[in-house]
Amino acid sequence: MNRSLSAKKRANLLIAAMTLDDKIAMLHGVTAPKKKPANAYDFAPPPVGYVGYVPPNLRLGIPALTLADGRAGVGNKAKDVTLLPAPIAAASSWDPALLHEFGRVLGEEEWGKGTNVALSPSIDVVRVPEWGRTFESYGEDPYFNGVMAAAEIQGIQSQGPIANANMYLTMNQESDRFHEDSVVDERTLQEIYLPPFAAAVRDGRVGTLMCAYVKTNGVYSCENAQILEDFLRKELGFQGWVMSDWGATHSTIDAANNGLDQQMPDDSYFGAALKAAVLANRVSQAKIDEHVRHILVTMFRFGLFDKAPGGNWMSNVRSPQHDEFSRHVAEQGTILLKNAGGLLPLQQGTSIAVIGEAGKNQPKAEGGGSSGVVPPYVVSPWEGIGKRAGSGGAVSYDDGGDPARAAQAASNAHTAIVVVHTDETEGSDRPNLQLPGNQDQLIEAVAKVNRRTLVVLDTGGPVLMPWADRVAGIVEAWYPGQEDGNALAAVLFGDVNPSARLPLTFPRTAAAIPTSRKVQWPGVSGHSMYSERLNVGYRWYDATGTKPLFPFGFGLSYTKFQLSHLSIKRDRFSAEELSNGATASMTISVTNTGARDGAEVVQLYVAHPAVNGEPPHQLGSFGKVWLRRGETKPVNLSVDGRAFSIYDPAGHQWTIEPGAYGILVGTSSRDLPLKATITIQK
Ligand code: BGC
Repeated sequence: MNRSLSAKKRANLLIAAMTLDDKIAMLHGVTAPKKKPANAYDFAPPPVGYVGYVPPNLRLGIPALTLADGRAGVGNKAKDVTLLPAPIAAASSWDPALLHEFGRVLGEEEWGKGTNVALSPSIDVVRVPEWGRTFESYGEDPYFNGVMAAAEIQGIQSQGPIANANMYLTMNQESDRFHEDSVVDERTLQEIYLPPFAAAVRDGRVGTLMCAYVKTNGVYSCENAQILEDFLRKELGFQGWVMSDWGATHSTIDAANNGLDQQMPDDSYFGAALKAAVLANRVSQAKIDEHVRHILVTMFRFGLFDKAPGGNWMSNVRSPQHDEFSRHVAEQGTILLKNAGGLLPLQQGTSIAVIGEAGKNQPKAEGGGSSGVVPPYVVSPWEGIGKRAGSGGAVSYDDGGDPARAAQAASNAHTAIVVVHTDETEGSDRPNLQLPGNQDQLIEAVAKVNRRTLVVLDTGGPVLMPWADRVAGIVEAWYPGQEDGNALAAVLFGDVNPSARLPLTFPRTAAAIPTSRKVQWPGVSGHSMYSERLNVGYRWYDATGTKPLFPFGFGLSYTKFQLSHLSIKRDRFSAEELSNGATASMTISVTNTGARDGAEVVQLYVAHPAVNGEPPHQLGSFGKVWLRRGETKPVNLSVDGRAFSIYDPAGHQWTIEPGAYGILVGTSSRDLPLKATITIQK
């Protein structure tokens, strides 16, 4: 308990005082009080609420671990918590400072609920647009996901809880998620799927990682030495602990020897069976100490021995500030995709027909599965729009069940707003990217009678929009959290100028996606072939010359921006200096040329020389800038050696090849008007 000692020293002193039973008890969760307790603390029943629980060691003064879900607020049916928008919405802000605050609010509520390990964030690259957990993640670019992950983790961990980066690794689909084998080459693993986790470890200093249900190259994540030992410990220098996803442990000896520190939620492999394996010399005492050390060092580092969490599962952690923040995130995450003929912003005092189930009767505020949050309230689109429209404007509602009746309602209104949704959830992928039910017909029917038709998408990922040319406006509001209607109204009436951008590509047709073949997704005979290799997301659209419906990075505003004067401070580097931490810096000038204040996201992509075999261009840096109307500001961006590196699978290392690298700057992956070159010499 001597706080002047280092976390490692304190952990080692404690380990020296622990029996084998004490140690094993740290390496698994408990789900029910033991009938035949191995020792005193085995009696401890898990407290209500937490989805994972490691009892305290009363003899040695080791505090309990209390684990709770929550990607968009405290989960596991907790009451009196805030429902934030889905992480994909927060990420659409392209604003790491917002993600930091998102993590801070989430971390504060978790800590207030007595949670000391918060099972967030979920940071896998979205490979398959149908993936049922797309909404829980940030999008399809590895660098982008890494920036967002580090920001959210720092926010969570600033409030007390230890964050958990999940799901490690290649957790890219729900179909057959307990057995699926992701067959993926090492270069692709390193360049696409690992970077978010590398950023979580290096920049976020995350305390824990969750290994995933799936296999990577034939071996379950939670017993996979390549990903747990080679990548995570040796290459990334991860010092924290790895816990299994709930039910993702498949062995005792392999898992313990190949890098799993802790089984969740129970002891089926890491309880009596692990003790027996140690006594039979199949798992060494040193291995056990190593696992315990990963956990204890992290607990000391986070001060769990020195302070108690801020409350318990019954505490009310809500506040007016958090309600307000939830609305702010939804406003900052809502993307304006189409706005023809000055449809938006809406004027007060005109008539509006709100149509669709999610418009009023069943607002679609969150996705399904373990990230579910019990919302204190949900403001429906109809309610939010009605309040904002003022007394002069009539806001009617039709649930859209009968497209002909809905069209009738729409024809009587100045503007028709059709709110459509998908029901995305952990545990299953969407069968395809179509809007479910009759929603496409509903939109067509309404658009036919009202040329001022706006479609609001409450979806967790991309959908096909066969009607896109026939509606005047399209807004992607994602799963917007408890303030759904208020945030939507603020954007539609122009109180907030939309400034969000797509963190993933929206395809034009079902066939025009990177993973359209069955062998890729959901796979054949349990194997999904990652045969698109590096061409994930926009990389594939560019490499194959396929036109997306809405490209990665795209989003409109009520004002207009102009980018100019790309200037590079230095355009020649040696490979060696870039490998040793040198960065290339550039400045771009951005002017708000429209009539309203607003924000633009400046995006910088790097185009490798063709011999490198990389996709045409890849996000290397971005910056969001807020500008008053008429204002001009410089935006400084820098790219480090990583953006110029490729992974050499033969030598198992990153290298920088000499050559001419394109620097492309603009406002989406498909709109890159400013160009320059950086030359790298040997
Ligand atoms: C999910 C995890 C979650 C865990 C505990 C699993 O099914 O994959 O994301 O943290 O359950 O609820």
